[in-house]
Amino acid sequence: MKIDILTLFPKMFTGPFAESIVKRAQDKGLVEIKIHDLRDWTKDTRKTVDGRPYGGGVGMVLSVEPVYLALKDLKKKDSKVVLLTPQGKTFKQNVAKEYSNLKHLILICGHYEGFDERIREHLIDEELSIGDYVLTGGELPAMIVIDTIVRLIPGVLEKEEATVFESFSPYLEYPQYTRPEEFKGWKVPEVLKSGNHKEIEKWRKEKSLAKTKRIRPDLI
Ligand code: ADE
Repeated sequence: MKIDILTLFPKMFTGPFAESIVKRAQDKGLVEIKIHDLRDWTKDTRKTVDGRPYGGGVGMVLSVEPVYLALKDLKKKDSKVVLLTPQGKTFKQNVAKEYSNLKHLILICGHYEGFDERIREHLIDEELSIGDYVLTGGELPAMIVIDTIVRLIPGVLEKEEATVFESFSPYLEYPQYTRPEEFKGWKVPEVLKSGNHKEIEKWRKEKSLAKTKRIRPDLI
């Protein structure tokens, strides 16, 4: 899978993609992530990517031309172009699953009051939001989307990692413990030390369900 990111702040991405599972996935050749500076597709010496809104109003608006030119260079027949914005459809695990099957994903990160509407109308396939809150830009959302997708690409997670995380989906994870058995008087539940796998499984299912009912009843 190939992922291209269009951003005004390319340096923001260096940390998260150079560590851990996403780095391993790139090293294994399972995903290729390229970060592009939108200013590379501007024509003036000041590398202008935004302008004041027609009709007045506060803030700046991301211009259509650099986005158009960037996509002209990057987009192929099987690309999906996604704009990160708080107004998009909500990013959920099922969307991540769908995206993880794509050959080529292009993510556009905005950073101003808004986008020229012609970007929405003519240049993208979908608008995506990571939740009902407003961030300063689409960079952190892009990182979240990529992190979620990458671990779903076959071969990225070791078998063990994958089953641990997915076992009770769509329920929340059951409580886990590791050594020591007791810390400041806080004890590991007896059942987990019993060696009785049936009982352990039953306990985990109960805990998982109870936690989901308490914290995320909407999932049930
Ligand atoms: N840009 C700013 N806020 C955002 C959000 N919640 N999701 C996606 N992109 C954004």
